[in-house]
Amino acid sequence: MTVTDPAVAPAVVPDVVLEAEGLTKHFPVRRGLKDLLTRERKVVHAVDDLNLTLRRGRVTALVGESGSGKSTVARLLAQLYKRTDGDIRLRGESVEVHGGRAFRAYCRRVQMIFQDPFASLNPTHTIRYHLTRALKIHGRAGKNSAELEQNLRDLLLRVQLVPPERYLDKFPHELSGGQRQRVSIARALGADPEVLLADEPVSMLDVSIRLGVLNLLADLKDRLNLAILYITHDIASARYFADETMVMYAGRMVEGGDSETVTQNPAHPYTRLLIESAPDPDRLDRVGDLRAPEDQGSGEPPSLIAPPTGCRFHPRCVSAMPKCSTELPPRFELPVVDNGQSHWAACWLYEEGAAK
Ligand SMILES: Nc1ncnc2c1ncn2[C@@H]1O[C@H](COP(=O)(O)OP(=O)(O)O)[C@@H](O)[C@H]1O
Ligand SMILES: [Mg+2]
Repeated sequence: MTVTDPAVAPAVVPDVVLEAEGLTKHFPVRRGLKDLLTRERKVVHAVDDLNLTLRRGRVTALVGESGSGKSTVARLLAQLYKRTDGDIRLRGESVEVHGGRAFRAYCRRVQMIFQDPFASLNPTHTIRYHLTRALKIHGRAGKNSAELEQNLRDLLLRVQLVPPERYLDKFPHELSGGQRQRVSIARALGADPEVLLADEPVSMLDVSIRLGVLNLLADLKDRLNLAILYITHDIASARYFADETMVMYAGRMVEGGDSETVTQNPAHPYTRLLIESAPDPDRLDRVGDLRAPEDQGSGEPPSLIAPPTGCRFHPRCVSAMPKCSTELPPRFELPVVDNGQSHWAACWLYEEGAAK
């Protein structure tokens, strides 16, 4: 092993856990009779050329309206889908697994939490059963029943379901939505992962308990030094909860940077639209309003079978220039505001010399 001079920034920053580069997923569309005759192969461009970095002890938000490809990104990162192109690196090592032992080894380190905690827990089994199973699969059940009991208690304590014995022998339907999501989180923690992929973890929950679950995730990030991907269509909650925010539109990343900067000084016209259509982000109770932006009357997202050429947002963009409909904008680095964090937007407005 070579010792790198800390003054020379290494290519892989040490705290990077999971990275995606050029990640692409196209779903084939079932062909109709007409397509069979033309031999045309249509695909849904769900995710195109996406770069993402998750670091230890940090929450990265992936924000976008529904249908923009967020869940597909999570499933690709969880190795639940085979990717069309690109690379996924766990601690610098490329990983591509399809089921089997390698998949289980990957899951031990990268766990996913789903939107609907009721659908993800089996209604015929107790909390004890779900958590014991998770601990056993990942070889963390302990040497005897006393150790197992202690490990089960520890998991419930970690997600603040106290006292644990009140919950262990309950069935999912005996718990509230928030408590069920806490059990799902406890089950994910049973693997002792490095990464949590949380796909809209609070959008199915009552407004009053969303903040509690987000605070729990923030607490776990700090205490267990987890890397968390927080997927949401609510940019206000990203500001509140995430260190970094990435904005996705129609399968492509359009803006990224430190959350405060992206939400307070949004650069991409799409991010601005998202923020304008969300009520005052300074009010934390806004974390409650998680309607998808398209329900708020801000135009139609495009078809992903034949996505718009150039910038995919150009048909809805108030600042669109002729170039925007023909050329795909690269990432342009933006002037850093005051905290030294990087900020970029894939928008021709930020090309040098372009009129803003
Ligand atoms: N298994 C699939 N087969 C075909 N198309 C899919 C599949 N999963 C998602 N899609 C399509 O990919 C696009 C992105 O979906 P998704 O990742 O679920 O978006 P989001 O989570 O942002 O709402 C949508 O157009 C959706 O219809
Ligand atoms: Mg989704």
